[in-house]
Amino acid sequence: MGSVKREVLLGIALKFLLVIQSSCAGAAPSNQRICKSNNDDDDSMYYPPVQLHELEDHVVLDNGILNVTLSTPGGMVTGIEYNGIDNLLDYNNEENNMGYWDLVWSSPDHPHDVFDKLDGTNVYVVIEDESQVELSFVRMWNSSQTGLSLNIDKRLVMLRGCSGFYSYAIFERLEGWPDVNISQGRIVFKLQQDLFQYMAVSDDRQRIMPTSEDRKYGLVLDYPEAVLLTNPANEFLRGEVDDKYQYSSENKDNRVQGWICSNPPTGFWIITPSNEFKNGGPVKQDLTSHAGPIALSMFFSTHYAGAPLILEFRHGEPWKKVFGPVFIYANSAAQGEDPLTLWTDAKEQMLAETESWPYDFPLSKDFSFAEQRGSVTGRLLVRDSYISAERLIAGSSAFIGLAPPGEPGSWQQESKGYQFWTEADEKGYFTINNVRAGNYSLFGWVPGFVGDYKYDAEISILPGCKIRLGNLIFDPPRNGPTLWEIGVPDRTAAEFFVPDPNPTLMNQLYISESNNRFRQYGLWDRYTDLYPDQDLVYVVETSSFQTDWYFAHVNRNIGNKTYIATTWKILFNLTSVDESANYTLRLALASAHEAELQVRINDETMIVPSFTTGLIGKDNAIARHGIHGLYWLYSIGIPSSCFLSGDTNVIFLRQSRGSGPWSGVMYDYIRLEAPSPMNN
Ligand SMILES: *[C@@H]1O[C@H](CO)[C@@H](O)[C@H](O)[C@H]1NC(C)=O
Ligand SMILES: *[C@@H]1O[C@H](CO)[C@@H](O)[C@H](O)[C@H]1NC(C)=O
Ligand SMILES: *[C@@H]1O[C@H](CO)[C@@H](O)[C@H](O)[C@H]1NC(C)=O
Ligand SMILES: *[C@@H]1O[C@H](CO)[C@@H](O)[C@H](O)[C@H]1NC(C)=O
Ligand SMILES: *[C@@H]1O[C@H](CO)[C@@H](O)[C@H](O)[C@H]1NC(C)=O
Ligand SMILES: *[C@@H]1O[C@H](CO)[C@@H](O)[C@H](O)[C@H]1NC(C)=O
Ligand SMILES: *[C@@H]1O[C@H](CO)[C@@H](O)[C@H](O)[C@H]1NC(C)=O
Repeated sequence: MGSVKREVLLGIALKFLLVIQSSCAGAAPSNQRICKSNNDDDDSMYYPPVQLHELEDHVVLDNGILNVTLSTPGGMVTGIEYNGIDNLLDYNNEENNMGYWDLVWSSPDHPHDVFDKLDGTNVYVVIEDESQVELSFVRMWNSSQTGLSLNIDKRLVMLRGCSGFYSYAIFERLEGWPDVNISQGRIVFKLQQDLFQYMAVSDDRQRIMPTSEDRKYGLVLDYPEAVLLTNPANEFLRGEVDDKYQYSSENKDNRVQGWICSNPPTGFWIITPSNEFKNGGPVKQDLTSHAGPIALSMFFSTHYAGAPLILEFRHGEPWKKVFGPVFIYANSAAQGEDPLTLWTDAKEQMLAETESWPYDFPLSKDFSFAEQRGSVTGRLLVRDSYISAERLIAGSSAFIGLAPPGEPGSWQQESKGYQFWTEADEKGYFTINNVRAGNYSLFGWVPGFVGDYKYDAEISILPGCKIRLGNLIFDPPRNGPTLWEIGVPDRTAAEFFVPDPNPTLMNQLYISESNNRFRQYGLWDRYTDLYPDQDLVYVVETSSFQTDWYFAHVNRNIGNKTYIATTWKILFNLTSVDESANYTLRLALASAHEAELQVRINDETMIVPSFTTGLIGKDNAIARHGIHGLYWLYSIGIPSSCFLSGDTNVIFLRQSRGSGPWSGVMYDYIRLEAPSPMNN
């Protein structure tokens, strides 16, 4: 049952090597790869060969730097021996609860979410030589089974001289297989809590973390993930809030994160060398490491976005996607050396891994090597004659990406395909490298401008192609000159007023004036403290959005867990109303959760609002301390007859769905445009 299939393995390994040699002409054969480690000494000859030891129901991979133990054929990581520590993982847990892949799915037969740890039923040795061992833990589906209609192939790779190991997976559905929803996919590692107490998710977000006992003996706040630490073992943590959602990151920023043990100085890191396999694009947020101590690699989820990101398979849709590899990196420092140097070293390793992407060693035929990929270059320019009448504006720092074909902006709700994103330079030039062969739309957006860009034609990437698109012109939505604006069009609410947290519900990490203050717990209720009975009023001539525009349009807490709808007012003067045509209100939202935003002009009592979004959003970004969720843009025509000439006008913004603390919207940016003089 647990025995490793050796006959099969030879065939598979040979076949795969052949594939590699034919497609990577001129490239170094994969078995000569030299691991780019942080060691000055880069020659793999000095490192012992990788060895695979087969035990009754386990295998151990050993490269002299670390040993990794996996269950067979399940493929659960049950041991990581490193730096004199027998097991970095929490060996008090069950065997399938230390290091594992999992998916969350549902189907007509299983309507409730199933947490599936993807136990393999067969294990294959894909390659076993001195420089690389690759294992494949497989679970195949067939139509005589119920359950998740998906073939699972979990891979684990250990290279010679590499202080860590790689994991990736190939998930596949064949045509005609039954309906299924898959809402989440990830790798989880549960570390020993006696060892790992310090967590780092970025340069400015790292700290000593509470233990799971600290959480257990604390006070659960408004949802189970948020706990007030009333009784922590470490006095330093008393009175703080711990909530895993306070450590979320955007895909583009989640490149290395993990844990540090101070004695012996040891680090455990998850390094993500590419975001191509993640869902929802570069600013999709997701969980990272958090109290437990848990180290996570989230591949896709509905977090900060909602149901549209569920992978729904209907009508027998076939599908295949490679997730990863990600690198699980272990590092160590000399006794007495500052353990924080491990963070610095992990960042260097992340850069080295990123540079060697796409990797040349994974042996799944579905992994795409550098030679099988193509690139796209160009320059994005913005045409907005109300900002620059004569010249096109450089698409400075624009986000440009290739994603499965769709409408402008569709990438933010896309989970099935691959996405390739880059940031343009200050002149708008961009290069997207290492794109897998296939057909894509080219999407983009430019900080400082509303709306989504999409290139007219579909882009077909062939192996080795270099597509030069030249100058691309983005016409952001615009009907006339700006009368006034609130905020900055950048898809977040970060520039608005973010209050101090309730002093009894703080996370020390986010107290200082940093750009992370929105990550505090309970800010939704601070609105009621600041606006106990009157709602927010913004006077265009005298208010400033940094201090006078609350970052989230939330409900008022009137006590006893009752929340009521609120109406914000924007006051402004129009010296003379242009009767010729419509004014345009651009309403860009950075987030919406179970919300309905209604717009009324100069008459709050209108039963039918001038405009309503209808019920929108389920990104839960208010509860989960995200400063944005999905992006929404509304362009609302307002007949000039609605406005008063030479007098104060009022726009009423009502979020009409009261009900709870977390329903509401975050604004990205609001602009009122006059009718275009050119239409006269
Ligand atoms: C790996 O396991 C072998 C056999 O038990 C042991 O001799 C070796 O020291 C271990 N290596 C590491 C890096 O822990
Ligand atoms: C799958 O997801 C869709 C959309 O989220 C939902 O309407 C449907 O009920 C789900 N189906 C199952 C079986 O969970
Ligand atoms: C289908 O899966 C079942 C359960 O794993 C297995 O017993 C059976 O042999 C499989 N049938 C085929 C045709 O592969
Ligand atoms: C891409 O589109 C072209 C033309 O529409 C089509 O022939 C080709 O099969 C597509 N390629 C892929 C990988 O879907
Ligand atoms: C609070 O709400 C509960 C349930 O809705 C109700 O039974 C209770 O009387 C309310 N208490 C106060 C003080 O209003
Ligand atoms: C509008 O103009 C009037 C008259 O100049 C002035 O009294 C009022 O304060 C102004 N209102 C706003 C909102 O600026
Ligand atoms: C003005 O806006 C109204 C309401 O949105 C719309 O029905 C009308 O067609 C617009 N008129 C013009 C001239 O654009």
